[in-house]
Amino acid sequence: MAILSNFDRENFIKHHWQQQSLFVPQCFLALTHCITGDDLAGLACDESVESRIIRGAGLHGDWSCQQGPLSEDVFTTLPEQDWTLLVQGLDQWDETCRNILEAFDFLPRWRLEDIMASFAPMGGGVGPHFDYYDVFLIQVSGTREWQLGQRCNEQTPLQDNTQVKLLAQFDTASTINAQPGDMLYIPAGVAHWGSAITEDCITLSVGFRAPSEKEIITEVLDDLVEQLSEQRRYQDTPAAIDPHPYKMNAAVHENIKNIASTLTPEIIEQSLHQAFGRLVTQPRYSGFDSGDEKVWDIEEINALFAKYDLINLQHAPHARFAFTQTHLFVNGDSFEVAERFSRQLCDQHIRLTTNATELASLCYLLNEGLIIFAE
Ligand code: SIN
Ligand code: CO
Repeated sequence: MAILSNFDRENFIKHHWQQQSLFVPQCFLALTHCITGDDLAGLACDESVESRIIRGAGLHGDWSCQQGPLSEDVFTTLPEQDWTLLVQGLDQWDETCRNILEAFDFLPRWRLEDIMASFAPMGGGVGPHFDYYDVFLIQVSGTREWQLGQRCNEQTPLQDNTQVKLLAQFDTASTINAQPGDMLYIPAGVAHWGSAITEDCITLSVGFRAPSEKEIITEVLDDLVEQLSEQRRYQDTPAAIDPHPYKMNAAVHENIKNIASTLTPEIIEQSLHQAFGRLVTQPRYSGFDSGDEKVWDIEEINALFAKYDLINLQHAPHARFAFTQTHLFVNGDSFEVAERFSRQLCDQHIRLTTNATELASLCYLLNEGLIIFAE
C-alpha cells in the first residue's frame, strides 16, 4: 500500500485543496522505480492504451503532438531531448501504480480521474499550460523543474496551436525542482510548466475530475427529457387566441409557463443527483478488458450466498463507483439500492442479500466485468 508521509491531510484540505499549490518533499518514498521508461514505451505501443508524444521547447517554440498507439520505430527516431511520452489511465494497466490511489482516499474517490505518466529526456515537457483538473504530480525518477504561474480560465489567451494547448503568456511566480519521492499539488486553473532537467524524468499525475456546469446541466437535461411525455401537448385557452393571427400573446406565454411547471423543484433536484452520479462515474479510459467470459445468473449468486455469509470482491481496474443514500452509480449506470448494499460494494465485499434489485445489480456488474468475485 502506498504511504503518504510528511503530509498533514487536514491542513491540506483546509488551506490548499482547490485553493493554492503545495510542494510536499519526500512524501512518496516507497514509490520510486514503480515504473520505467521502457514499461511506458511498451504501453504506448498497445492500441488499448491512450498515449501521445509531445515535442517542443520554449514558450513560443515549435510544439507538436503525435497521438498513440505508437510504433516501436517512433522511439528510434526521437531526438536526444525536448520530447515527452504521456500514458493515460496508468492505474488500469499497472497494479503497483493503481495502489498509489489509496494514498488519496482522504479525498472523494469518485472525483479521481486517473494516473497519467510522463517520461522525458532532458528538456522534455508538455509546455506552459493550465488544466481544469486538480492534480498531484509525483516525481518517480529524474528531476523535473516546475514553474508555477498565473491563475487562468477560459478567457486566458492561448497560442494558435491546434495540437498542443499552450498559454500565450507565462508569468512565473515560483520555481520548484522535484526529486524522486517529492509531490507537487496544483489546483485547477493554475498555470504550470514542467521541464525535465535530467535524463529519465518520470512524473505521475494523479488527476481529480471537476465536471463543468455545462456538462452537469446537459446531463440533467438529457435525464429530464427521458422522463417527459409526447402525449401531453400545448393547448390553447380562449384568451390565447389573439385577434391577430400571427401574435403569440401573454396568455400563450402563461400556457407554456404551465408546461414548464411540470418540472417541479423536486423533480429537478432528483434529476441533478442522478445525472451527477452517472456523469462522475462515466469512464474516460475504457480500453481495459479482463477477458473473463463467464456469464453469471442469480441462481449461481444465491448458491454462493448459501455457502458464504460474506463474499469478497474486487473492483475491475476501470470501474468507477459512487453512491448516495438511495443510489449506487457504476461507470455511468445507476441502481436504486439501499445505502448498506452500496457501501458493501464500494468496500469490496458483499453480505447475504435476498433483495431482487440488489441481486440483479450484482449480477449485472459481474457480467459487465466491473466487479470480480475474489477467490
Ligand atoms: C508532465 O508530467 O510532464 C505534465 C503533467 C502536467 O503538467 O499536468
Ligand atoms: Co498540467
